Amino acid sequence: MKNLKSYIATHQNRFINELIELLKIPSVSADTKYKKEVLNTADFVKKSLEDAGCDLVELCETPGYPIIYAEKIIDPKLPTVLVYGHYDVQPADPINLWDAPPFEPVIKKTAIHPEGAIFARGACDDKGQMYMHVKAVEYLIASESLPCNVKFMIEGEEEVGSESLSWFVPRNKEKLSNDVILISDTGMISNDIPSITTGLRGLSYVQVEVTGPNRDLHSGLYGGAVANPINVLTKMIASLHDENNHITIPSFYDHVEELSTAERAEMAKAPFSLEKYQQALDIDAVYGEKGYSTNERNSIRPTLDVNGIWGGYTGEGAKTVIASKAYAKISMRLVPNQDWKAITELFKNHFESIAPRGVSVTVTPHHGGQGYVTPIDNIGYKAASKAYETTFGKTPIPQRSGGSIPIVALFEKELQSKTILMGFGLDSDAIHSPNEHFGVWNYLKGIETIPYFYQNFAELSK
Ligand code: BES
Ligand code: MN
Ligand code: MN
Repeated sequence: MKNLKSYIATHQNRFINELIELLKIPSVSADTKYKKEVLNTADFVKKSLEDAGCDLVELCETPGYPIIYAEKIIDPKLPTVLVYGHYDVQPADPINLWDAPPFEPVIKKTAIHPEGAIFARGACDDKGQMYMHVKAVEYLIASESLPCNVKFMIEGEEEVGSESLSWFVPRNKEKLSNDVILISDTGMISNDIPSITTGLRGLSYVQVEVTGPNRDLHSGLYGGAVANPINVLTKMIASLHDENNHITIPSFYDHVEELSTAERAEMAKAPFSLEKYQQALDIDAVYGEKGYSTNERNSIRPTLDVNGIWGGYTGEGAKTVIASKAYAKISMRLVPNQDWKAITELFKNHFESIAPRGVSVTVTPHHGGQGYVTPIDNIGYKAASKAYETTFGKTPIPQRSGGSIPIVALFEKELQSKTILMGFGLDSDAIHSPNEHFGVWNYLKGIETIPYFYQNFAELSK
């Protein structure tokens, strides 16, 4: 890749400043208050792809937020890489836990990022990682070294379930046709230990509501005589795990893919320090399903977690009250072969069946998606692996992640192509949390590594 390093060195300040401008726009897809800003972010992404030198750049309307499509076709006979990313971000709350405002990016050094990290909501997930691709393609076009065709598809609803993209993909199969899909929206083990994500978990997300008496009651006059929805809800939730932290929903594990001893031994080779893991989180012990290691618990095993729970009085002081209703939001992370719709149904039936008399229970499904495992014996994986070898000087470790990008399974189904997950974030980058950040080194290393993927993929496709 001629002059790649010098191109990055010459333009790195501009690359950083452009990303900072992108991060200033609060594109929170979950909150309609930010609708205008989400749309402005779509315009920003569109312009950045035009500036990078794409020939065709379109803002595609959908029932929800627009999808930005762009392409640079140099020769229809050459292979095509389809880059996916998202320009929406998670809500920034709780804002008071941020050291600097979430949409006023600052660069600060940290122990893990001695060269500085950009702090802002979306810095790592996914604006920073998506923008690496725009800059990598800018370089390839500017230096006339793009070795194959490239298409971009950048959406604005990933953090809320990608509904519009699920609508868009089946309607635009021809336009989106490709030989491999490339995504940077995951992480790697550390800056010295590169890894490629080979699996994503599926997801089923539900809300539950327990209703007791028809109004909030005096907890003295009625306490002890009627079912308290909050007491009932917490008891029902507690019963969803047994003493070994197995999930108790009947048939929940029926289709779970069990890894062989050899596969588990291979996984266990990935470097991991339990002590450092606990230290980073200020916990004195890990917790989870009996019989599995921490890395297994958060990647190859399914889970059930309460994400939010509320009801009754939570204001200042005390109020003696038995609430009429109690609520919780629950997510289940799923593994390959578990069907998210079937699991949602299992949950609903089970949760309704364990409700005691005196309350009624409703379960409302939110969104979900299938898990994904990518093989490592294809040219896409090899092209990525070789790219890291060039820029990191090390062969990356294949590793399954616990996170979800539900749309990846849909890409495989609708577009018949494999996805390669080249993530450059770190678990400590605090995605979805206060003080999210992305290392400047990681950002520039991503821009340096991606062009080699194109080169290797074109080469290996011959
Ligand atoms: N980029 C993340 C997923 C991710 C992060 C995967 C790190 C692997 C490593 C994505 O934006 C995300 O947050 N996905 C959601 C699911 C979605 C349906 C809201 C998730 O995993 O909670
Ligand atoms: Mn993401
Ligand atoms: Mn996310």
